[in-house]
Amino acid sequence: MIIAVDGPTASGKGTIAKRLAEHFGVPHLDTGLLYRAVGRQVALNGGDADTEADALAACDFPDELMHDPVLRSEETGGLASRVSVHPAVRAALFERQRAFATQPGGAVLDGRDIGTVIAPDAEVKLFITASVQERARRRWLEMTQAHIGREDEIPLAEIEKDIVRRDARDINRADAPLKAAPDAMVIDTTNFGKQEAFEAVLDAVKERLGLA
Ligand code: DC
Repeated sequence: MIIAVDGPTASGKGTIAKRLAEHFGVPHLDTGLLYRAVGRQVALNGGDADTEADALAACDFPDELMHDPVLRSEETGGLASRVSVHPAVRAALFERQRAFATQPGGAVLDGRDIGTVIAPDAEVKLFITASVQERARRRWLEMTQAHIGREDEIPLAEIEKDIVRRDARDINRADAPLKAAPDAMVIDTTNFGKQEAFEAVLDAVKERLGLA
């Protein structure tokens, strides 16, 4: 069983995907981390994220990089969004994601194009979204909690602008843009807390699988 979880940045899709994987006892892959590792490796190589050849060369990143906490930073997220525009990068990362998706026993993958490109054959497709304002608020909370005492240094308006920029790049790229698969269940978590969002998703998944 493949569960595809797509959606924009800070929609809560990562937490939901992780919890679904735990619930069903299958492995989980956060595919954004692959693009983040490529973005980080471009920077380490002194290359340019907007140049396809530089981004492609960075796809050769060492496996340890996937565990580096710097991958979670906003800066690396921006680089990831830029390298993810290049078709050669997407092609280079395809096989790894496809192999993970099709492993015996099933898997949960979250990203932008899981239901549309990586696993169009997934039994369950989810598209998790929330308003820009709410996603910015969640990201701000996450960041201020991580930097206790520095709230004033992280303006909410800047985070919101960054999210809008990132959404536009992910939605408007020609190759594998961010969009819900026609057969995806779209779940808007704007007015849900984390637990409520997970329960809504789990109910929808169970119904789709005929387990409700
Ligand atoms: O989910 P995230 O914020 O970690 O993803 C970082 C960037 O990687 C995102 O802006 C676009 C890109 N990405 C992608 O193009 N396709 C995926 N399946 C996952 C991420």
